[in-house]
Amino acid sequence: MLEESLLEKLKQHAEYFPKREQAILLCLHEVQNHYGHIPEFALEEVAKILDLPLNHVENVVSFYDMFDRGEPARHRIRVCVSVVCHLMGKDKLIKALRELLNIDFGQVTKDGRFKLLAVQCLGACSEAPFFMVDEDAYKFENKEKLNEVLSRYA
Ligand code: FES
Repeated sequence: MLEESLLEKLKQHAEYFPKREQAILLCLHEVQNHYGHIPEFALEEVAKILDLPLNHVENVVSFYDMFDRGEPARHRIRVCVSVVCHLMGKDKLIKALRELLNIDFGQVTKDGRFKLLAVQCLGACSEAPFFMVDEDAYKFENKEKLNEVLSRYA
């Protein structure tokens, strides 16, 4: 069962659009921001609120790599692996992240602090190689600066 405050927000999103189903991405983002991932039980709740079949909501979550149904962490690092970031050195960013965090994509650090996710273009190609920590945007410069960025997240 979703917490009352989250449930209220989802209902507000659903009522904002002419068709409830148009609120699906907004609702899923809201759930993910709340829990750090998308728990199974939340899919049913979202489906009910939007008056959609459960498998429709599951398909949307599976389609977009921005949605994460796996193990949660306190912070999610999303690394763009699309072409511009690739050409601008995303491999150096990934190497530095692996060395600093000792995890691979899809994994969570032992202390539950970070989860590393590979995603497609985040629309910030001029900042390539680009990554996000939660909703904060960053351009990768070097391992030392990356370490300084990560130290801001407890
Ligand atoms: Fe990486 Fe667009 S290709 S942000």
